[in-house]
Amino acid sequence: MTSRYRVDYQLKEHRRDAFIEWIKNLLATPFVLYAIKPHHLLSSVSEHIVNSDATRHYADIFKSLERLIHDDIEMNKAGVPMESRLKQLVPQVGSFFTELPLVEAFYIQDIKRSIGKRRLVTPSFNDIRIILNTAQLLALSKDKKLKLITFDGDITLYDDGMNLQSDSPLIGNLLNLLSRNIIVGIVTAAGYREPHKYYTRLEGLIDAVKSSQILTDKQKENLLIMGGEANFLFRFSNKQESLVFIPENEWRLEKMDWSLDEMNTVLDFAQENLQALIGKLNLPAVVIRKERAVGMIAKPGFKLIREQLEETVLRIDRNLSSFKPAEKIQWCAFNGGSDVWVDIGDKALGVQVLQNYLLDWGIEVNAENTLHVGDQFASRGSNDYASRSAACTCWISSPAETKDLLDDLVSYISEWATW
Ligand code: IMP
Ligand code: MG
Repeated sequence: MTSRYRVDYQLKEHRRDAFIEWIKNLLATPFVLYAIKPHHLLSSVSEHIVNSDATRHYADIFKSLERLIHDDIEMNKAGVPMESRLKQLVPQVGSFFTELPLVEAFYIQDIKRSIGKRRLVTPSFNDIRIILNTAQLLALSKDKKLKLITFDGDITLYDDGMNLQSDSPLIGNLLNLLSRNIIVGIVTAAGYREPHKYYTRLEGLIDAVKSSQILTDKQKENLLIMGGEANFLFRFSNKQESLVFIPENEWRLEKMDWSLDEMNTVLDFAQENLQALIGKLNLPAVVIRKERAVGMIAKPGFKLIREQLEETVLRIDRNLSSFKPAEKIQWCAFNGGSDVWVDIGDKALGVQVLQNYLLDWGIEVNAENTLHVGDQFASRGSNDYASRSAACTCWISSPAETKDLLDDLVSYISEWATW
């Protein structure tokens, strides 16, 4: 390993997804051996054979991955997770709450992305990410398992710092899911106690739910918002025709047993650290303190570059990890794309609060019935990552990808009329 490579590898490891990278390496062999350019003398018939050879080998790999995931699920059920062969091969791999029909997903995406026909571009990180998403959607729709779908806000439902307006192409799909009695949640870091602030951010969706002729009153109330990771819960109310705040004592989980003082100690420490980093890195930024969060944002007229945001989030994450009072509290430090935040709680708790709250309505929703869709799944400095321990997940990279994902989900579940 050259030192340059070592530096790149060690310092950016948190930005790589070990499971996706591993699959990418597995697919590189058939790409090298079978996705070859046919000799100019080969007929179009043999060119076809060469192409389908690569496709078949990719599909074989996905078949083997299906088996490894099946084995992983079985080993976890048997209480011996370390016996999972997949876990031994990729120690960083997360939990699988459903089987994944990867071969079917591969064939679906192969048509759209010309994966098997490509000769110069190997199966990429994005190809694999999208195949995994498709497999997850198929698994959740085929077994009619999906009961709760949660979305991140920025980048997932709308562009960074923007709002969900009435012209958003996602609204039709979100109403469609609600009309099938699927509960729709928004689990966002954006944390406010006042419902009108979420109305501003989600106006298009809330107005569409309010005026919908296809949704029943009960279905309209299946819209939930968890703000500030796991700090402020809201629900659409027919009576009030708007979002209503649900007091914390109605949903707070037992394990969220930290006091106001304990939260403030952690936030004070994070605030001092962010302030110090602004000085040390000479950043054109200011610190904002909120009730359950502390953030660093650019000064008006300035922009923080990606490297500054990354450096800040990794340093604050490291400092908090060795701060004793922070051990008792679940917290989350992340790079929001143009700002850095430290929040009390995380999206695993946010999703679990919704699951637990639904139990009070008599709806049992476990991780295998929940899908969280988000854009931040790198292991450190990203806030959707935590949701992996509480839900199945789909990793998107833009609101346009969320739209494609929802189109696919709606089409898969439409095949089961009695959903
Ligand atoms: P998300 O992508 O929906 O989780 O929203 C993340 C973004 O929300 C951050 O990048 C911030 O710009 C914004 N935000 C507003 N208030 C807060 C807060 O209290 N904590 C974290 N992020 C916040
Ligand atoms: Mg986001």
